Amino acid sequence: KHSALIAPSLLAGDFSRAAEEAAAVEAAGADLLHLDVMDGHFVPNITFGAQFIKALRPKTKLFFDVHLMVAPVDAHLKAFADAGADRIHVHVEAGPHLHRTLQAIRDLGCTAGVAINPATPAVAVAEVLDLVDAILVMTVNPGWGGQKFITSTLPKITRLREMADATGRDIAVQMDGGIDLETIGPAHAAGADRYVAGSAIFGTGDYARAIDGLRRAALA
Ligand code: DX5
Ligand code: ZN
Repeated sequence: KHSALIAPSLLAGDFSRAAEEAAAVEAAGADLLHLDVMDGHFVPNITFGAQFIKALRPKTKLFFDVHLMVAPVDAHLKAFADAGADRIHVHVEAGPHLHRTLQAIRDLGCTAGVAINPATPAVAVAEVLDLVDAILVMTVNPGWGGQKFITSTLPKITRLREMADATGRDIAVQMDGGIDLETIGPAHAAGADRYVAGSAIFGTGDYARAIDGLRRAALA
């Protein structure tokens, strides 16, 4: 069976202790740190920007998995690359020139991911797979943590896994939203291999137990 990497989303952590929260999930066995940037325009909520991520960068060695819910996004990419993003995910719905945006991320020295909303069909990413290392499949409507997993996304996960495998390259199929001990198993069975989880980790008192439990539930 394929692997199950766990990416805690700092969105559900205590922002007043962000560096400690990042260090805590690192010590608890997280595989990467997911950072949700919301602009109050592409999504209704506002979170944090590049300056916040830059301040966190020296506090942990975790891979910075930056999810930009921002439109238009192109003018901001360099700031996130400079802040220490390892991967930058941009939404297929966020602008008309996705190919150029993904190319710009790569030119900045980051790896690129393409994020796809629940209502957007799998085929929307078909022509950019050669530019990405991950497909970030939204399993909730982006904007807030703590929402319910949208089960009807499961067949799309399988289609995206097939499309990713058909490239012959290693492309992650990453779930984001509503991942918990109940939903991670079906998502893994459908073909996902990476899991963003906010509330299911930061909402508990024992991050190591939560991360380990999710990984086990995926692989069970
Ligand atoms: C939603 C964000 C997610 C969110 C997940 O807009 O992209 O990364 O933090 O939070 P949970 O795991 O609580 O659904
Ligand atoms: Zn996210």
